Amino acid sequence: MEKIGIGPNVFLPMPVVLVGTVVGGRPNFMAAGWASRVNANPPMLAVGINRNHATHAGIRETGTFSVNIPHTGMMEKTDYCGLVSGENTDKSGLFDLFSGALPGAPMIRACPLAMECRLVQTVDLPTNTLFIGEILGAYADEDCLVDGRPDMERIDPLILTMPDNRYWSLGEYAGEAWSAGKRLKKGA
Ligand SMILES: Cc1cc2nc3c(=O)[nH]c(=O)nc-3n(C[C@H](O)[C@H](O)[C@H](O)COP(=O)(O)O)c2cc1C
Repeated sequence: MEKIGIGPNVFLPMPVVLVGTVVGGRPNFMAAGWASRVNANPPMLAVGINRNHATHAGIRETGTFSVNIPHTGMMEKTDYCGLVSGENTDKSGLFDLFSGALPGAPMIRACPLAMECRLVQTVDLPTNTLFIGEILGAYADEDCLVDGRPDMERIDPLILTMPDNRYWSLGEYAGEAWSAGKRLKKGA
């Protein structure tokens, strides 16, 4: 098929997370698609947050943040957290919260998987800051675990595509990673 240049403003499919921190003394959550695991050991996550967001100031101030994975049933509240700012709207009462070791990283009880992170590095980019955090604790609903590990089918995460700005649920299981390509390895 012939390729058509579409310009550089393209995106990867991504799970949506709720980034939690404390803003002006109260818990605050924002929707984020630009989040990823970025280091193996110690486990680290990075989130790309626009400099104008209240969350940006909150993470800088507290040096901590949480990353909460909402299930598809939480779409409305998740989207709301991406529409309004903690700068002028109190989002602290939206969710039932719990905390682990880090008081500046409030976590959402309704999210089947939540992680608390200590800020270890920041990378200043033209519009956003990449906040890199070490995961100090992770908490999952018991019924979302299979063999003690988070099972994404049970977690039922919200997936975001851009630039069409649509939410999706996880698709069909397709195969085993680090295994499906083995037949093509030389000598196998
Ligand atoms: C689905 C979705 C994903 C978003 N992803 C990001 C993101 O990755 N980075 C970012 O800076 N803003 C992102 N936003 C925008 C912020 O969530 C939004 O501006 C929010 O109101 C900021 O809240 P705060 O000011 O309380 O931090 C996203 C919004 C939506 C709806």
